[in-house]
Amino acid sequence: MDQTFSFTHTSESRVLIQRGAEQRLPEIVSALRPHNVVVVHDQQLAAVANRVAAALSADTTLAVSGEDSTKSLQAAGELAERLHRAAATRATVIVALGGGTVTDLVGFVASVYLRGVAFVSCPTTTLAMCDAALGGKNGVDHCGLKNRIGTINQPDAVVMDTSWLETLPDDLYREGLVEVVKKAAVLDADHFVALEEIASALVARDHDATARVVSMAVEMKMAVVLNDERESDRRRALNAGHTIGHAVESLAKGTVRHGAAIAMGLIAECRAADVSVETTARIGDMLRAIGAPTEIPARLRQPKELWDRARHDKKAARGEVPMFVPRTLGDGELVTLTEAGMRKALS
Ligand SMILES: NC(=O)c1ccc[n+]([C@@H]2O[C@H](COP(=O)([O-])OP(=O)(O)OC[C@H]3O[C@@H](n4cnc5c(N)ncnc54)[C@H](O)[C@@H]3O)[C@@H](O)[C@H]2O)c1
Repeated sequence: MDQTFSFTHTSESRVLIQRGAEQRLPEIVSALRPHNVVVVHDQQLAAVANRVAAALSADTTLAVSGEDSTKSLQAAGELAERLHRAAATRATVIVALGGGTVTDLVGFVASVYLRGVAFVSCPTTTLAMCDAALGGKNGVDHCGLKNRIGTINQPDAVVMDTSWLETLPDDLYREGLVEVVKKAAVLDADHFVALEEIASALVARDHDATARVVSMAVEMKMAVVLNDERESDRRRALNAGHTIGHAVESLAKGTVRHGAAIAMGLIAECRAADVSVETTARIGDMLRAIGAPTEIPARLRQPKELWDRARHDKKAARGEVPMFVPRTLGDGELVTLTEAGMRKALS
């Protein structure tokens, strides 16, 4: 037999962003008609998790660490074992509460445990609300590499309560804002202008401004993902800043946070691709307004080292290093980074 079968992705994902969205969880979870409910949460969020578990009459509450090492096959295996001991079945709904580390791990396990059970994602960091919990990518790190093993599986619902962010430290809060600036810079000039207008309210962590920025992120990311669920050219828009940003993050060996690396990467990529000085400056001003750094520190300005890392990144293929840059504000295009471009970015 030699036949090609085309599958259409028909699943639906509901996304709710609201201060107080936590109160809507019982209605959202019961619509999934669960036989039982398991809440898996970042151990730092035990107080919220206990409240959520009580409201959902959850049968089981499982704590996992929010540290990086949690995104591992070993932790995934252990979680599957704990679900098994909790008698989780195909009719179980798993509710994950935590940052991207926890939503990536739990989303992955929910997509493979018994070949997939219902999953409600409750992100508790700005990065997870604006990026990690959207788009259905789940996974764990492996062989020392980020997200080497994973699935694409849309959650049944994503529930985001901005009051969960109240305990988040400032540097982590700002991390997610960089993601939104980056998306707006390549996808949506109107959103970029709106971000400029609410920058100071965002830095002050105003709830309405935060909810607005999360809504913008959802709108922009889901528009790309719905058009293009599997990674291809349009989805690459979401990786703006990541080509040089990841190289910087990797060379910095844990001393530069992801959001800071992406902010620096976005500006370096604009320079590498000869984006106009005006557009580059405006994006730089916006990033600095939310407290993100835009210049790669001198100790990491190593063109050869950064180029080696960029061309071995998982997104590079057949010797080509793609990057998505704003050609004009809010309108991006896919270009190729060269070694000369990397040198220009750092000069
Ligand atoms: N799946 C995707 O599409 C995607 C996209 C971007 C990033 N990611 C992944 O997301 C992960 C990073 O996630 P993150 O930035 O959300 O951080 P995180 O989940 O690693 O959390 C950072 C720290 O904040 C703590 N924390 C979480 N919520 C808190 C809260 N409300 N109050 C106080 N502390 C809290 C955690 O315990 C942890 O110590 C990475 O593993 C990255 O690969 C995935």
